[in-house]
Amino acid sequence: MGLIPDNVIDEVLTRADIESVVSRYVLLKRQGSNLWGLCPFHSEKTPSFSVNPAKGIFKCFGCGKGGNAINFIMEIEHLNYPEAIRHLAGIYGVEVPETGYSGDSVQKEEKNRVKDILKEAAKFYYKSFNDPVIGKPARDYAARRGLSKQTLDNFGIGYSPINWTALYDLLNSKGYKDDELLKSGIFAVSSKTNKPYDLFRGRLMFPIFDSFGTIIAFGGRALGDEKPKYINSPDSIVYNKQNHLYAMNFARKEQSKQLIVVEGYMDAIAMHAAGFKNTVAALGTSFTDSQLKLCARYAEEVVFFFDADNAGQKAALRAVKMMMEYLNKLTGINIRIKIAKVPDGKDPDEFIRVNGADKFSEVVRNALYVEDYLLERAKNDNTDPVTGELDRGRYQQDICVYGSWMNDEIKMSRMAGASAPFLGATQQAVMSQMIRFRQIEDKKQSQVNSRTLDRERRENLDHRNVSEEFATAKDDSMPEEVVSEKPVFRKVIDTATKEEIDLFAYALSLGSALADKKHFDTKNVIRPDDFSGDTLRELVRIFLNIFDGRDETLYARMSDYFSRLTINGQPAEDIMFRAVEAADKSPDVRVKRDMYLALLFKVRESRIRLEEEMLMNKLVNAGPDEKEKINGRLRSLSDYKMSLRNKIGDL
Ligand code: UTP
Ligand code: MN
Repeated sequence: MGLIPDNVIDEVLTRADIESVVSRYVLLKRQGSNLWGLCPFHSEKTPSFSVNPAKGIFKCFGCGKGGNAINFIMEIEHLNYPEAIRHLAGIYGVEVPETGYSGDSVQKEEKNRVKDILKEAAKFYYKSFNDPVIGKPARDYAARRGLSKQTLDNFGIGYSPINWTALYDLLNSKGYKDDELLKSGIFAVSSKTNKPYDLFRGRLMFPIFDSFGTIIAFGGRALGDEKPKYINSPDSIVYNKQNHLYAMNFARKEQSKQLIVVEGYMDAIAMHAAGFKNTVAALGTSFTDSQLKLCARYAEEVVFFFDADNAGQKAALRAVKMMMEYLNKLTGINIRIKIAKVPDGKDPDEFIRVNGADKFSEVVRNALYVEDYLLERAKNDNTDPVTGELDRGRYQQDICVYGSWMNDEIKMSRMAGASAPFLGATQQAVMSQMIRFRQIEDKKQSQVNSRTLDRERRENLDHRNVSEEFATAKDDSMPEEVVSEKPVFRKVIDTATKEEIDLFAYALSLGSALADKKHFDTKNVIRPDDFSGDTLRELVRIFLNIFDGRDETLYARMSDYFSRLTINGQPAEDIMFRAVEAADKSPDVRVKRDMYLALLFKVRESRIRLEEEMLMNKLVNAGPDEKEKINGRLRSLSDYKMSLRNKIGDL
């Protein structure tokens, strides 16, 4: 059995939300931001077992067990770490490669190389677009579509020249190797020459950014009617299209309570240009639950635009069903969903061009809440366009199915009330039919789940045999930390001051905000050597290593390491859990930031004081040369200390 790459673990933790994982075993009730139930690991009559969906962790205040979804499965199914990951991966549909090793740092290095390649490619496309000769057809096309210079630059739009190897040759000359280039997803391999060639040729190029503005993929549109209209670079080690939304890097900066989701790149771009900067686009696939989760991080309401054609409308129903299921599972997410429709079967891009931004505002305002949309859908889909007659049988079927998707009884009851008159039935009768449909659906679902569980159990037994064998065959070249078959216990100095603990807790609580250069000078990001003890140094190192701006799983991923370490003799998890909980209570990000900075400066100041003491001691027995050096160091420490004092004063 191979080691499990970090990105797979990450994916498992993203998909296997703690609430649904635990709910398979424990009946949970919501109270505040946590869910509570009877602890499955010790016997109790009043619930002291809590689940925090936002952080992706569980904690029992009775027996002290706690951790993320993987740790929960390890405990309850008596699996080891990789087995638990595979178990969850099976249930939540994450593919785990069978062999191959990629450690944290190797992966990260690889990813950075790929990101560099994509950035170089974007520059190349951009240059080609603006080249007087080469870029002319693309610029003409962009002009026909009404894209201003400002919009083009803002979205980094470029052009891939009609040439099989222009980009390959360029990147090759810059020292990128074939295997790296192939990992980037923008090259293909010729079956004749076995050499890579450019995937995009003669297309208008849209760089796809992650939420933080790093290029992770490309979409390329044909300039004419040739097929396919769009080519998108495939999923890669830096890109999983299910987890991203086009233009989110811009939209999230709006800090609007509402996000608008459209289908096409061009729709999103046109809407940004028309002032609707809170718009994102799905990336050529149906909308996924992790995209919904991403939206929920930044907004309270999501307005969806689906294409008016048949395919678009089918997609709308699929997406609504998926979202309702997802919201049913996850009480931690609070998000309103609305569906909007562009009149006359146009897409938002065309509509804005013809009717202008004001008219489009109206369209957004007229978006319907999910239940109203479904009521209307059931009606329209089953009304004969010529005679205007309603097919009552089909209408009833649709209404009851849609009603069964609702995540609360009030919505269900409203739908029942609104449709009852057309069905010649009472609201009550419609409602009970909806509930019956819901029960049938739930039962089907639980059968699927238990079958999956059974299969997993059997497979895990097999895995366990393999891994025990594996564990006895020692391999020194393998870094223990990434995949510990058994928990790793090492002798470490685990002391930490309260300030250090709080500082790290604030960093965890700030999460991606720390990466925001507008708010944090890189100098003010915690470093391992800010901390005195081994445990916190190690945790901070891990934190910096896995920190990629994705708050969703940050805490859950960290908690994986907490469970193996101690701070001041206590489980690191207990200490950090409490400290982060306290940090999370900060009323807003600015207060949190100031607290963090104040702690940082204090911690750094006491580190300096320690070093000063040490240097003073050394000074006593030092020779003249060494004395000079030590004094120099002491002077610069003293200057640095003063500057920290001033910074504390400024806060
Ligand atoms: P549409 O076919 O609705 O195109 O596809 P569009 O966005 O209106 O594009 P324009 O206005 O003709 O340029 C919607 C989205 O589906 C994906 C793309 O992400 C596109 O933006 N798509 C479409 C593909 O990935 N491949 C295709 O061949 C077509
Ligand atoms: Mn279009």
